[in-house]
Amino acid sequence: MVIQANKIGAEIQPTMYGHFFEDINYGADGGLYAELVKNRSFDFPQNFMGWDIFGKVTLQNDGPFERNPHYVRLSDPGHAHKRTGIENEGFFGIGIKANEKYRFTVWARGENQKIKVELINNASMGETQVITSQDVAINSKEWKKYEVILTPGETQEKAHLRIFLASPGSVDLEHVSLFPVDTWKGRENGLRKDLVQALADTKPGVFRFPGGCIVEGTDLATRYNWKNSVGPVENRPINENRWHYTFPHRFYPDYFQTYGMGFYELFLLAEDMGAEPLPVLNCGLSCQYQNDDPKAHVPVDQLDSYIQDALDLIEFANGDTNTKWGKLRADMGHPAPFNLKFIGIGNEQWGPEYPERLKLFVEAIRKAYPDMKIIGSSGPQSEGEDFDYLWPEMKKLKVDLVDEHFYRPESWFLKSGNRYDNYDRKGPKVFAGEYACHGDGKKWNHFHASLLEAAFLTGVERNADVVHMATYAPLLAHVEGWQWRPDLIWFDNLRSVRSCSWYVQSLYGHNKGTNVVPLTMNKQAVSGQEGQNGLFASAVWDEPTQTYIVKIANTSDKAQAINLEFKGLKKSEKLGEGKLITLHSDNLDAENTLDNPNAIVPKESAVNIEGNTLNTEIGAMTFAVYKFKKL
Ligand code: AHR
Repeated sequence: MVIQANKIGAEIQPTMYGHFFEDINYGADGGLYAELVKNRSFDFPQNFMGWDIFGKVTLQNDGPFERNPHYVRLSDPGHAHKRTGIENEGFFGIGIKANEKYRFTVWARGENQKIKVELINNASMGETQVITSQDVAINSKEWKKYEVILTPGETQEKAHLRIFLASPGSVDLEHVSLFPVDTWKGRENGLRKDLVQALADTKPGVFRFPGGCIVEGTDLATRYNWKNSVGPVENRPINENRWHYTFPHRFYPDYFQTYGMGFYELFLLAEDMGAEPLPVLNCGLSCQYQNDDPKAHVPVDQLDSYIQDALDLIEFANGDTNTKWGKLRADMGHPAPFNLKFIGIGNEQWGPEYPERLKLFVEAIRKAYPDMKIIGSSGPQSEGEDFDYLWPEMKKLKVDLVDEHFYRPESWFLKSGNRYDNYDRKGPKVFAGEYACHGDGKKWNHFHASLLEAAFLTGVERNADVVHMATYAPLLAHVEGWQWRPDLIWFDNLRSVRSCSWYVQSLYGHNKGTNVVPLTMNKQAVSGQEGQNGLFASAVWDEPTQTYIVKIANTSDKAQAINLEFKGLKKSEKLGEGKLITLHSDNLDAENTLDNPNAIVPKESAVNIEGNTLNTEIGAMTFAVYKFKKL
């Protein structure tokens, strides 16, 4: 392989290799959002979903938060040996860790009352179900927020939260909440630390949110409405999750969005990770997989409020603190702008109904915010053919980037290394917004699929002048509550595991470099269609560290001799001792699991280069990253 070391080519965008976040597979509520109580405000359509109630509990609907009006009244059970109370099951149970602190909060009113708050193991065969317990005195005629810290002495994956009335009389309770104190950056209303860490650890360049299909909604009424996701958390209204139902065998009737992790929290997360925020908004079309009837959508002449939502979002992110939405951002704790540069309009849309709507958004956004980069969509993926059906329309509209989605089998990934070689360099840039290798008959996170993603990405990297963003999807999945797989990160209530696809993304994220460098074998690009002898490769230069980085995926079942020849270096320039990082498994079906999270992880070693050529061998079915510093 020849690397033209003196030909420093196209710039690799800082937005490369990011994350696409969606509340699918319990990715937000029950996942990244660290709230442990399900249906905390009793506003799910079946008001006691997630709760068991006992004794004299009545539902009321004139509470202090007008957009979540329900609350419960706990009244005296009328006998010393009877109890009134409520018990929450959490999301597939409540995961708690021994000696960690948990913040219980509740809005309550009542005079001279007491409630007992317990974390329990209701499956316990011991003397007691109680793991830890605290009394909370309630003494306020008006609604007031009460707080207590619970510190369990044992670890339990499936605890419940039980609350008793512990005084004669009655008490009203609303927005019953339990969070670990140790959230990401210790924030209240915070995020689950291990999951954020797994996101941040890939060094993402862009963070797209809040989805996918949930942006569109099952119908327009249930589309993601960002304005409902900001402001005081208690008053963010519940929204049905479009993913509560996917296929007949994966149905979660109690899957709702609390918007507790709303747009403010998502912008903050992007900022924490150093990733460009990329919100995607509804374009007036509900999910076309579910409603392909033109009447299900917003008529083109009635799009004003949708377009205003987009303009207001830009003001929320970037506006001065004396603007309406900029002020809200400041009131929520972030007076400085989030510095939003990109906005997506529409998700995976099709038909003429999409461009005719998008056009109006583009005109309005360009007029008000000429520097904002607008992302359109290329249309849905379809079996057996390419899915660039909306590209001509996107070019006509002059969007800045086009979002392409591909969940494809092994054969597609193997033949698509040259996908971007002939893309129009003058048109919009590419955002490979949702991709994953879906093994033929094997929708797992197994090693082979990840290796083919690594191979395909050499072609993405080589075409850095046209591909500006790439995000694997979906991102997160609860092992007990998923609708879609494979996914980048899996978790249960206490643990999480990084898939081998995560390691591929991470190796690209950490080794993306600043510029492409030409790499050929037999005078041809090695990440062309089918690679060469099953080899796929690309090379980059990293200016700050003065390092060449070569990525090679050997997708064949044989070890192969390779020689990396760095041509064009000046006589005075030398390559120092190198580093090799490999990702490999002898078993192509092997995967990382919660019980065996490190089954397939990168291994690092030193490599010596003689002069400017490395003669070596790459193992069968191996992804390798070689790094050489220029001295
Ligand atoms: O990632 C899962 C879904 O796939 C997304 O919500 C949608 O955009 C695509 O169809």
